[in-house]
Amino acid sequence: MKRVFSGVQPTGNIHLGNYLGALRQFVELQEDNQCIYCIVDMHAITVPQDPETLRKHTLDVAALYLAIGIDPKKSIVFVQSDVSGHAELSWILTCSSYTGELSRMTQFKDKSKNKESAPAGLFTYPILMAADILLYDTDVVPVGNDQKQHIELCRDIAGRINSRFPDTFVMPEGRFLKAGARIMALDDPTKKMSKSAENIHSRISLLDEPSKIKKSIMKATTDSEGVIRFDAENKPGISNLLNIYSVLSGITVEDLEKRYKGSGYGTFKKDLVDVTVEALAPIKARYEEIRSSQMLIDTLKDGAERADAIAQKTMTRVKENFGLGLK
Ligand code: TYM
Repeated sequence: MKRVFSGVQPTGNIHLGNYLGALRQFVELQEDNQCIYCIVDMHAITVPQDPETLRKHTLDVAALYLAIGIDPKKSIVFVQSDVSGHAELSWILTCSSYTGELSRMTQFKDKSKNKESAPAGLFTYPILMAADILLYDTDVVPVGNDQKQHIELCRDIAGRINSRFPDTFVMPEGRFLKAGARIMALDDPTKKMSKSAENIHSRISLLDEPSKIKKSIMKATTDSEGVIRFDAENKPGISNLLNIYSVLSGITVEDLEKRYKGSGYGTFKKDLVDVTVEALAPIKARYEEIRSSQMLIDTLKDGAERADAIAQKTMTRVKENFGLGLK
């Protein structure tokens, strides 16, 4: 059995990109692995958050985890700030990291662009992510493509520490899907779909109403050729929609191209609306039930206890290797 770990930031409603790139894998992996899924609230505070909203979003993401099919009997589900080992290990890893490698992180460069000064937490964010992963002796990290560079950094830090103190950490591998690993924004298919984009029609959130889903898809940017063909470079808009359609329906992109040969974008988009609404309806129904239940809180409390037990073992080993504390 392999150990799987992943996390999602509670910074807004989870969208199709999160679902198709990462969360879909979470459910599939729990059948044959020991999975740990976290709501990474400490990552969220790298940018200012309203406390009440952050707490609400934390529970929203937890409820969505369960609504998409994560089963707390099979997987551990918990909130990052409930396990102190994340912050503790993060500091130890910080002391084995370099400012040069952190400066090369494209996500930091994007987020700090045009800002006079950037919060230090935004800069060291990938180290906290490395701590999340290494704390649980993780073998596999299911994520979208945008996290590739962070996983590489985590492996570099683990390798560096292991070469000084052998067997301190398990070397993790990222797990990226072929289709869905990078879902693009509907209004600008050259950018990835994101929780923080201003235009709500740039994304489809898992809890969107059918009328909102319809509006966002019908408005989605395409091109003037009017031919339904996958060509990510020259036709990024329709290629992104084909990708979404294919992953949600299980029909290959090639079969979709054949099916819609001679059809216009309008027909294709209408069908995609139906496919999307149908795929998300059961998630939304389960979510409503779970979000208001005591079971959600009990699951997170139990999850934090189980996660903490694993984390403490790692921290004991790490501290001993580094010579920290009394023996
Ligand atoms: P976050 O919260 O931005 O996104 C959660 C997951 O969704 C994936 N994702 C996408 N996949 C495909 N297309 C998109 N447009 C898209 N947008 C987001 C992300 O790759 C991610 O898998 N740093 C992480 C959270 C994190 C984490 C960890 C992940 C913290 N610690 C440890 C794994 C292991 C993040 O900001 O994800």
